[in-house]
Amino acid sequence: MTRHLTLPRPDDWHLHLRDGAMLAAVCPETTRDFARAIIMPNLVPPVVTGAQAAAYRDRILAACPPGHDFTPLMTLYLTEETDPADVLRAHAEGIITAVKLYPAGATTNSASGVTDFDRVRGVLDAMAEAGIPLCVHGEVTDSEVDIFDREAVFIERVLDPIRRATPGLRVVLEHVTTRDGVDYVRANDDGLAATITVHHLVINRNHILAGGIRPHYYCLPVAKRETHRLALREAASSGDSRFFLGTDSAPHADDAKESACGCAGCFTATNAMSILAHVFEEENALDRLEGFVSRHGPAFYRLPVNEGTITLEKGDTAAGWPDRIDTDAGPVTVFDPGFDVFWRVAEGA
Ligand code: DOR
Ligand code: ZN
Repeated sequence: MTRHLTLPRPDDWHLHLRDGAMLAAVCPETTRDFARAIIMPNLVPPVVTGAQAAAYRDRILAACPPGHDFTPLMTLYLTEETDPADVLRAHAEGIITAVKLYPAGATTNSASGVTDFDRVRGVLDAMAEAGIPLCVHGEVTDSEVDIFDREAVFIERVLDPIRRATPGLRVVLEHVTTRDGVDYVRANDDGLAATITVHHLVINRNHILAGGIRPHYYCLPVAKRETHRLALREAASSGDSRFFLGTDSAPHADDAKESACGCAGCFTATNAMSILAHVFEEENALDRLEGFVSRHGPAFYRLPVNEGTITLEKGDTAAGWPDRIDTDAGPVTVFDPGFDVFWRVAEGA
């Protein structure tokens, strides 16, 4: 028996497309299914000015396969030198959709991020005034804080103070990984939302560490214990519009992951929609998938829902996808959920 589910074309509200050879190879994996994506600016060097964001947008559009209708929604990488006027100008000209806050040292290419939050106060005030969302990597970088606690501590020490000091600032707590994060979002108003990845709905920390180290399950924020995964599944499938999809699909060449000091990131662009359909069906919430992937994000970002549609179909045989994508920067392993998935995106959708 085949079952079908047709949704407005989904968006990915947190995506790493990289640049150069990697961009060329991974871009079609996203544009096949998604109409828009919030593009992360953590290139080397990072995308810190409106002019750089415009140039990066053009490189992404050049990498989109013909026939794929895709709009990259650009972000600026917030540094202590960011000029509020440049942010406002880039937003007014339609070049950027949001600004990304990386605490310095929190993750891949975050060295230029923020150390002293008082030094970005002027930018945050200007963003609040103009209604520009701040996308936040919510982890403290203090080496004394246990890596599994860094999100919860960030919320208390950094995020809540920033939000109190900047009323009206619209904030996305990105790739939320904890029950604490979910509860914090739920306890606040609709100026605060959170994205949830595919992989954090599927794996807990045992998947990374039990029975051998699995570098392809290592990402940041690192997957937490099972109770947190269950809280994320509940939030994603609850219908609460403050939670929406941000895959954080983050390709690294396999040799950079399968290393004595492996990079953080799960590459889910290829199979995100299939796995989500599986997860939402398990949660008896297939009717809420549309909100999570197609409606809640546009509502927060004040953008229209996409006009096209995508059809998911459930077959009798497991959906196939390549184990890895070949790129001129080396192969990139596709996220393995560890179970068979019978949902696939219908051809020609
Ligand atoms: O796992 C991750 N990979 N988390 C991030 O925050 C960054 C990303 C990357 O750029 O590789
Ligand atoms: Zn990310």
